[in-house]
Amino acid sequence: MSGFVLAIDQGTTSSRAIVFDADQKIVGLSQQEFTQRFPRDGWVEHDPEDIWDSVVATVRTAIGDAGIDVAEIAGIGITNQRETTLIWDRETGTPIHNAIVWQDRRTASICEDLRQAGHEALFTERTGLLLDPYFAGTKIKWLLDNVEGARDKADAGKLAFGTVDSFLVWRLTGGKAHLTDATNACRTLIFDIARQQWDDELLSLLGIPKSLLPEVRDCADDFGATEIDLFGAAIPILGIAGDQHAATIGQACFEPGMLKSTYGTGCFAVLNTGTDLVRSQNRLLTTLAYRLNGEVTYALEGSIFVAGAAVQWIRDGLKLVQHASETGPLAESADDDQHVYMVPAFVGLGAPWWDAEARGAIYGITRNTGPAEIARAALESVCYQTRDLFDAMQKDWADKTEQTVLRVDGGMVASDWTMQFLADILDAPVDRPQILETTALGAAWLAGMKAGVWPDMEGFAKRWARDKRFEPDMDADLRRAKLGGWDDAVRRTLSR
Ligand code: G3P
Repeated sequence: MSGFVLAIDQGTTSSRAIVFDADQKIVGLSQQEFTQRFPRDGWVEHDPEDIWDSVVATVRTAIGDAGIDVAEIAGIGITNQRETTLIWDRETGTPIHNAIVWQDRRTASICEDLRQAGHEALFTERTGLLLDPYFAGTKIKWLLDNVEGARDKADAGKLAFGTVDSFLVWRLTGGKAHLTDATNACRTLIFDIARQQWDDELLSLLGIPKSLLPEVRDCADDFGATEIDLFGAAIPILGIAGDQHAATIGQACFEPGMLKSTYGTGCFAVLNTGTDLVRSQNRLLTTLAYRLNGEVTYALEGSIFVAGAAVQWIRDGLKLVQHASETGPLAESADDDQHVYMVPAFVGLGAPWWDAEARGAIYGITRNTGPAEIARAALESVCYQTRDLFDAMQKDWADKTEQTVLRVDGGMVASDWTMQFLADILDAPVDRPQILETTALGAAWLAGMKAGVWPDMEGFAKRWARDKRFEPDMDADLRRAKLGGWDDAVRRTLSR
């Protein structure tokens, strides 16, 4: 069997398909952006057919690009934007509504009602999450309550819920498999992460019938095979992990204490805590790093909703640059004497603040402030937010995070300036790997390893290689002053 593996990376703003060879080299790649829909303030939707069409198109192009026979692909690994919620008709496969995206805030009042009724502690104890519209559970409730006829159909067992992975598996297998993996399940607010099963009590609090839910499997497992007429052969789907979990795997953060941070649309820092289900005292999430052979590896996660999205706003909203890659050099040219802070709470604030109603703000603008200072404030805000997560992790898992090196990936890490500022603000080393496609690589490893054509965990970890280490090099007083300014800006932005 050849060692080609196909990774499908269905992200928030684009779908990508990547073919890796047996040496984990990329031999075919295709990417397609799709439309973001903002029907109301704080609402974010995707058309499920955009998701599906872009996945099919990119897979076909990537395979063509690789110049291989489809039958040579040993398996598919899927990784996906997490929490984004779909419900479809089991008979027709047609979604009953657009996908409600993870960033969507429409269920803030459902969360507030549950909080007022005193249920937050129970949700947190069972799921490791907090009552925030970010997670899928309240989005499912919203769909059942607001789409005409949905609740009756759901009660009659005619509908299926899935995160994007599950929707793709359903479509790829021609409706034969309704499955998900444990990392996606653990982001739904209805999955008990200690018992590894859907939680009846939480389901009843949200009014969600169990018949709606997919079966939960390990990250490397048998998820069915693609319909032959889609790509010309039945390719087995052998791996699934939510994108942040796949990146944790792709960064080979397999040991407790290892930490990665991915800078995509948002920024997500994941700290491997091994078999320890660490309950955060500092408003981080307890989540799964991955589940393999029925064994769970837990993690602490800090989730920031806007990272690359701030750069996108600089490019598309303010039109300060034409390409995202120009943001770093522009920021570098900013006037050091200005103290401009941007709090990019475009869709509220995630960890550790969890303020769904907050909205973005910029402070410290003077007559001298221009595009360079705004660009710098945007990039710095991502680093400050990472520092907030880092602090919370250190408090939650004190002695074990002392020596931590942060492994970074995602589009923004290409900027040396930003990575140096990150190391300076964290006061910790930052490692950038040679392979930056860590999310797709993690998904590919799950499938390649399951197919028996890629190395095991140890062999895979040995291949992780550093491109560059950024060592902290900022005067402690300056760091303290900058962090003080950031803290002040955040506090002024909070809605409560
Ligand atoms: O939890 C949301 C996350 O999975 C989305 O990732 O890469 O689009 O920022 P990304």
